[in-house]
Amino acid sequence: MKKRETAVDFPASLIRCLHNAQKIVVVTGAGISAESGLPTFRDAQTGLWSKYKPEELATVEAFKRNPKLVWAWYSIRRALALRAQPNAGHIAIAEMEKRAPHFLLITQNVDGLHARSGSQKLVELHGNLHRAICFENNCSSDKFDLTNGRCLNCGGNLRPDVVWFGEMLPASALGAANRAAEECDVFFSIGTSSRVYPAAELWQIASQRGAVVIEINKDPTPLTPKADYSFLGKAGEILPLLMRQVWGAEEKLRN
Ligand code: OAD
Repeated sequence: MKKRETAVDFPASLIRCLHNAQKIVVVTGAGISAESGLPTFRDAQTGLWSKYKPEELATVEAFKRNPKLVWAWYSIRRALALRAQPNAGHIAIAEMEKRAPHFLLITQNVDGLHARSGSQKLVELHGNLHRAICFENNCSSDKFDLTNGRCLNCGGNLRPDVVWFGEMLPASALGAANRAAEECDVFFSIGTSSRVYPAAELWQIASQRGAVVIEINKDPTPLTPKADYSFLGKAGEILPLLMRQVWGAEEKLRN
């Protein structure tokens, strides 16, 4: 790692690098939505996986055992996500997209908040909680009863269109993410523990190809000692400051 900076102490080399960047890739995780009131997965006490067992809620086997329970759990998360509002971190990333010559946002989040904040060049690596698919017959019809989790075409169970443990990621999303990581000159990792693969591999691909790797995270991660720049703090505070310093003050970015 070259440097570790405080939240407001952005080095001139970083500002220059972002000004000159041609292809920026941003990978986000649950931490970007934490300031919108949505729980992360691995934070002690508050993380979802500190309260619930993934093998009871986020696997095909769990769904087969108890589809109602799994559907209910995702319905609660869907309702929470709909009530939440994009925060300053989401908005700063959407603004970055407008300024970078080439840009891709790759999120592990399924909450839909990036799209709601205006991000358009977006890959949802782990799916989207607001979409459902027919579990039984993979019906192409989208006549779904979302309240009861039933496919109205075949009467079978619906499942959320998210990636569960043990499942493959959508091939097109993963392909796009890998290509973008290979080609970018600046790579941001924001609000992710960088522990879940293949997302956690993307910064390594980018770094091996010579990209500058910048991490913004509340706590240290396996990436922290290897990043070119690492900022420990809240994404919703650091990102707007960085955006203002690099691309100038913008009304939208004011806290
Ligand atoms: P984690 O819960 O593993 O990590 C969230 C990270 O965000 C932690 O390192 C926190 O320190 C950090 N964080 C919390 N609040 C923050 C804030 N305000 N600003 C910046 N950082 C903050 O979540 P993910 O890395 O997203 O997969 O987890 C990856 C995947 O594991 C998820 O997509 C999910 C989960 O199992 C599936 O469900 C397939």
